[in-house]
Amino acid sequence: MDRLLVYGGSPLRGVVAVASAKNAVLPILAATLLTEEPCTITNVPLLEDVSTMVRLLSSMGVSVARQGRRIAVAASDRVGKEAPYDIVRKMRASYYVLGPLLARFGEARVSLPGGCAIGPRPVDLHLKGIEALGARVRIEHGYIHARGRPLRGGTVLLEGPNGPSVGATANTMMAAVLARGTTVIDGAACEPEVTDLARFLTGMGANVEGAGTPTIRIRGVRRLRGVAHRPIPDRIEAGTLAVAAAITRGRVEISGCRPEQMTAVVDTLRATGADVEAGRKKLLVASEDRPLGVNISTRPYPGFPTDLQAQFTALLTTGRGTSVVTENIFESRFLHALELNRMGARIDINGNMAVIQGVERLSSAQVMASDLRASAALVLAALAARGQSEILRSYHLDRGYEQLERKLAALGARVKRVTG
Ligand code: EPZ
Repeated sequence: MDRLLVYGGSPLRGVVAVASAKNAVLPILAATLLTEEPCTITNVPLLEDVSTMVRLLSSMGVSVARQGRRIAVAASDRVGKEAPYDIVRKMRASYYVLGPLLARFGEARVSLPGGCAIGPRPVDLHLKGIEALGARVRIEHGYIHARGRPLRGGTVLLEGPNGPSVGATANTMMAAVLARGTTVIDGAACEPEVTDLARFLTGMGANVEGAGTPTIRIRGVRRLRGVAHRPIPDRIEAGTLAVAAAITRGRVEISGCRPEQMTAVVDTLRATGADVEAGRKKLLVASEDRPLGVNISTRPYPGFPTDLQAQFTALLTTGRGTSVVTENIFESRFLHALELNRMGARIDINGNMAVIQGVERLSSAQVMASDLRASAALVLAALAARGQSEILRSYHLDRGYEQLERKLAALGARVKRVTG
């Protein structure tokens, strides 16, 4: 099994480019099911999750041609209507085929995602969204069976106990683009990845207004056409690299990102005492000292992203004073904390809050990654620790980071992957 060896203590320096956003690419690939015409997605990152989505579409009989970072997709009328458990259990985002299949073919059979390391992940809002468009849904033998043709425009509030849902907003939007009449989604997620999906749908000829705001209005059209699309850059990868610069007290320019989509992240980094210069499509992050302790509370966009909570928790383990990190989106998203404590951090978990007493320096250790962002946090902590750390189950990284260790090594990190 792959593991990473990281020798800490080198300040990172140089320029690093970010890839396209995983969380934009996945729903966009699913949205190609909405037309029989060819769609082309460019600058696609080489990620495990992208390969899983490609495998899912191919298993449904969709023609998918991949050349490096370019993916050409054509979904004929004969595609299968099922997302099987074997694929969905590997990647929850497989449920993004639900909306498009229902919209175009009037039926879909999608496995329920099952358990997740970061906490309960219900799909009730996804079902609420498609039922508001007239779909009939039943859950049987671990599968969502949905039928409805034609779907009819409707109004739905898609806000749950922890706020809006990115996934349910995307699925309902994709179901509504071919429905008869107008759909209004209230309490919609405003994440940039939702806006990028709407941009893709509009390129196909859909009529979507208000994406990026809590109210999205979709007027259904009869059919959609093929389109070429370049997704937005990955703000979570950019944030991870920014923390890498700060935690190693280095100086790094992160190119190809969108600082305007990272306001909460940039503000928080500055509050820890790091120098952050936001330029056009780039961030320059530098730090010479231990971070200042700060309090962080994860929120839906434009608030502080839960997908950067683990990385900032790692940064604050060497902070001056006490920091409190409150996780409001996935209440048990703290598996990384126990591993960080193995490296000498002092983190107490109390419900959805982590109280962090900053220490002078972390020490190297053998640690275990539990999920994508937790594994990134362990790599960052190891970069700052004294000695060589070993990160087990580093395969989690490959789901959402393209060759992270190579990017870090190019900035001066001493990191290597060991396979087998
Ligand atoms: C997306 O997940 C991202 N995944 C997650 O990133 C990210 O953490 C999350 O949005 C929040 O920003 C992808 O884009 C593929 P949600 P999603 O539905 O859509 C509750 C990563 O690391 N909820 O916005 O599954 C839910 O339990 C991943 O890249 C319901 O109650 O998240 C949570 O508390 C991890 N009912 C909150 O809403 C539902 O039907 C937000 O979840 C759906 C969600």
